[in-house]
Amino acid sequence: MTTLKHLFDRNLEWVAEVNERDPEFFTRLSKQQSPEYLWIGCSDSRVPANQIVKLPPGEVFVHRNIANVVVHTDLNCLSVIQFAVDVLKIKHIVVCGHYGCAGVKAALSTSKHGLIDNWLRHVKDVSRFHADELLNLKGDEKLDALCEFNVKEQVTNICNSTIVQNAWSKNAELSIHGWIYSVNNGTLKDLNCSYSSLASFENNNPPSLNT
Ligand code: CO
Repeated sequence: MTTLKHLFDRNLEWVAEVNERDPEFFTRLSKQQSPEYLWIGCSDSRVPANQIVKLPPGEVFVHRNIANVVVHTDLNCLSVIQFAVDVLKIKHIVVCGHYGCAGVKAALSTSKHGLIDNWLRHVKDVSRFHADELLNLKGDEKLDALCEFNVKEQVTNICNSTIVQNAWSKNAELSIHGWIYSVNNGTLKDLNCSYSSLASFENNNPPSLNT
């Protein structure tokens, strides 16, 4: 049986390093977590939430899935958001996509990838919403544009969730942000689609076209 001993060895090395830097670290952390940020990112192994923003354990509540998608009926993601907002009282939700996302790339192609195609259908929908803007783009330019549109769409989905709408109606201090990460150089870019209140969100996203 493979026990992945090397990972346990690395774990003990990490514990020793942390204890050397900060002997109270684990005692302090074991008492409670009070992160200010919920990170919703891609499962891609090159996009680790804490490391990118240089924050230690305890500072970021994290949910990751392929292509950082927030689906209105995904109980997993919704439960993370609800717990983060209502129980942990986090102040910021960040959707962080990344350029060159393989999930977004797969959504742009017509090839079949199995079960995952059902999940990526949500990203295909985003490409349909922005068909005009994507029409004349090609290759990486098209992929990266869809990566950005996908982040913005997920920000909209979070803002439209009952969880965030309820929090804002109670004047909770809660902001939603859309960022994108460059795997090529390690930098983050703000996509300037942040919302901190229902009014700020509805100014840009009318609640209904029928009113
Ligand atoms: Co990705």
